[in-house]
This record gives sequence, structure tokens and C-alpha cells, in this order.
Amino acid sequence: MQLSQFGRTFAGPSGIMDLMDDMGRALAGSEKKYMLGGGNPAKIPAVEQVWRRRITELMDTEGGIEGMLGNYDTPQGQPAFAEALSALLRREYGWEIGPEHVAVTNGSQTAFFLLLNMFSGPQQILFPLLPEYIGYADQGLDPDTFVACHPVIERIDEHTHKYHVDFDAVTAVLRSAAAGERPPVGAICVSRPTNPSGNVLTDEEVNRLDELARTHDVPLIIDNAYGIPFPHIVFDDVIPGTAEPIWNPNIILGMSLSKIGLPGTRTGITIAAPEIVTALSRANAVLSLANSTAGQIITEPLIRDGSILTLARETIRPFYRQRAEDAKAALRNAFGDDIPYSVHRLEGSIFLWLWLPDLPITSRELYERLKQRNVIVVPGEYFFFGSPDISSWDHSRQCVRINYGQDSADVRTGMGIIAEEVRRTRHASIR
Ligand SMILES: Cc1ncc(COP(=O)(O)O)c(C=O)c1O
Repeated sequence: MQLSQFGRTFAGPSGIMDLMDDMGRALAGSEKKYMLGGGNPAKIPAVEQVWRRRITELMDTEGGIEGMLGNYDTPQGQPAFAEALSALLRREYGWEIGPEHVAVTNGSQTAFFLLLNMFSGPQQILFPLLPEYIGYADQGLDPDTFVACHPVIERIDEHTHKYHVDFDAVTAVLRSAAAGERPPVGAICVSRPTNPSGNVLTDEEVNRLDELARTHDVPLIIDNAYGIPFPHIVFDDVIPGTAEPIWNPNIILGMSLSKIGLPGTRTGITIAAPEIVTALSRANAVLSLANSTAGQIITEPLIRDGSILTLARETIRPFYRQRAEDAKAALRNAFGDDIPYSVHRLEGSIFLWLWLPDLPITSRELYERLKQRNVIVVPGEYFFFGSPDISSWDHSRQCVRINYGQDSADVRTGMGIIAEEVRRTRHASIR
């Protein structure tokens, strides 16, 4: 069997595949596991009740369930959904958009695959701030698809830090690309809130990136999977500024129904200029024929009457806010005063990003040891890609990502085991 370049890229081994497979295996077996690894949203009873109510309504409506299950969607998505969502965004933010600015895909992961490849080769996608979402890392058709910049790390206090965009580094890449000294940049891409760090780029940073993108005539892709207006996993009280989403015809805004609790419906949404929406719809038809309609039909009335905003702001946001505080307290308790550690300021998303600056082993090895003790986290190495200097950058091997949205007791026990293992490795290295 002779695989093509495409086959070798996507059917070959990849870090993300190893990791997902490993996690799946870790789940098998009868022992209790502490799953602080993957990206599943939390189970929030009040939110689950809303989906149950909607499905009951559909069951009670003549043709409701049949309409949801029995038809192919258009490659762009349900017209009523696009119309309701564009009206909501117009109303909330004054964006001049209509249904022609909305494209639906089977999960936003698919939209990113299409977008990152539409704007790369031979151009590169520029990620202004590492660490960045693991899910992009293996999506490029070309091995050389990505270029990424290291962050400036602000130490807020002994146990808290925050990443900032290093604009000198970003500008240097854009300038040398424009001068023909390196491959051209085809698009700039950031997740905000950021998976894995929980960082929320400041309004000023986003505005500067927007300006740079326009100056260099490339789109700015903003991945808003955790952002405002839904699921609104943004802790507005700790971030400087507003973290309101921004959009203009040069911005491609990714959204998703996954983190409001509907990952199984695979519904990704892209808000973009009509020509991008057309390009995505055409590619979507080739790749998938049509989208999954379930998420669109379940949420459409909540988007139409705006109640999805209240659900996100008043139920989902406070739930994660509390869980984030609980996780930080559990960490403090478990780590005490003897282990140096720092957490990225918890500004949004569903993850706690733990930096262990004195860790005598790599975070990949720590992950392996924790797995032996039934605690599953994600080693930080996977979130550092696109930079040739990573191997000499210790920070990239000193971090782990912890999903804190899971059961609080599990998070507490898991933190205790993480602290024990870190202590063990430190004692072993001192001896
Ligand atoms: C930052 C970010 N973007 C995109 C996705 C993809 O989400 P989905 O394909 O479920 O919409 C995820 C999933 O975890 C994510 O964390």
C-alpha cells in the first residue's frame, strides 16, 4: 500500500491521535479514573434540562423530530438558524451581518481544518501566542503550515502568571514575510479564551492583531469556542477590559455549540464575509455533503429569543467560575508551600494551566506517571508547535492542562495525586 502525501499526513501517526487513543485506553478497566484530561464540557443539570425540554417540544410538534432527522441540511447550514444567529449578533453588537455571513460545519474543528488549509500552502498560518490549541497542530496539509511566537510571561504573584502577545516577535514575522525572507503569512489565528491556558487576550491585544492583519492584508481568525456571547466561559470580573467579541469583514470568528453542552451534535459556526462563507459551504459539500441539523434545530428558538445569552451568562458562566475557584483551592491545598508552581490566571475556558518551573522530569513523563495512578491530564508539550526554538525552551515541558469542569471531588483527589507525584520526582532528584 502506497499512501499519498495526504494519506501520510492524516493516516500516519500524530501526537493528538496517540494522546486521544491513550486516554481512551486509560478509561477502559474497572478502576476509578480521574479524568482531568479531555475537553468535555461539564454536566450542568440546569443546562441539560433545557436540552431535554427542547427535545420534548420537538417530539410533541408534528413533524418536529422527523424534520430534524429526515433531511439533508444545506452545506451552509439551516437558513432559519443563520437568520436567527445573525439577527442576535446584529442586535447585541451592532455588526452589519445577515444570514449570508453564517456558515455551519460539523463541529468548529472541521471549520478550522478548512480555514487553516484555505489560507496556507505556500503561505503559513501565524499563531501570535504559544501555547495554543492542540487541535490545530496536526491539521495542516503541509508539514510547514504553521509559524508561532513565544509569549511574554507576566508573573502576577508567586503562584499566578499570564501570557501576553509579544508584538515585537509578531511584527518581525510579518515584516520578514512581507520582505520575502520567509514564507508569506496567509492568516493570523488565535483562540480567545485560549485552550489550554485559560488566557483571554486583552481588548488591546485583539485590536492590535486586527490592525496588523488588516495592514498586512490577511484575515484574522479568532476562535471563540469558549467566548462571549455563548458559552460565555469568560470570567469578566478578573479580566481587564470587556472581552466582548469583535468582528469586521476581515475577521473570521469561530463559534461552537460544544461548550454550551452539545458536543455530540457537532455544530460549529463561522461568522465571516460572504465570500468566506461561500468558500466554506462549497468545501463542506465536498467533504460532508451537509451538516448535522440537531444542534441547530435544538438551539434555534433560544437564539431567536435571546434566552441562550441568559443561559450562558447566568448558568454556564457562574458554574465554571465556581469550579475554577474550587480547583484553585484544591491545588493550593495539595501543593502547600513546598512545591513551586504557578497557574495561568483563570480568565476563561474550562482548563487550569499549571506551570511547574522546577519539575525535574518532562510533563510528558509526569503524565505517564499520573496515568499509572489513574489520573489523566494533558501534558503541555502538545500545545507548543510551529516554533523552531521549542526544544530549547524548558517552559514547553513544564506545564500540564487540567480540565477543572469535572466532578469537584474528582478534581480534589486528582490534584492531591498530582502533588504527591510531583513531590516524589523532586525528592528523587534531590537524593
Ligand atoms: C479552542 C477550541 N477550538 C475548537 C474546538 C473544536 O470544538 P468543536 O469541533 O467541538 O466545535 C475546541 C474543542 O475543544 C477548542 O477547545
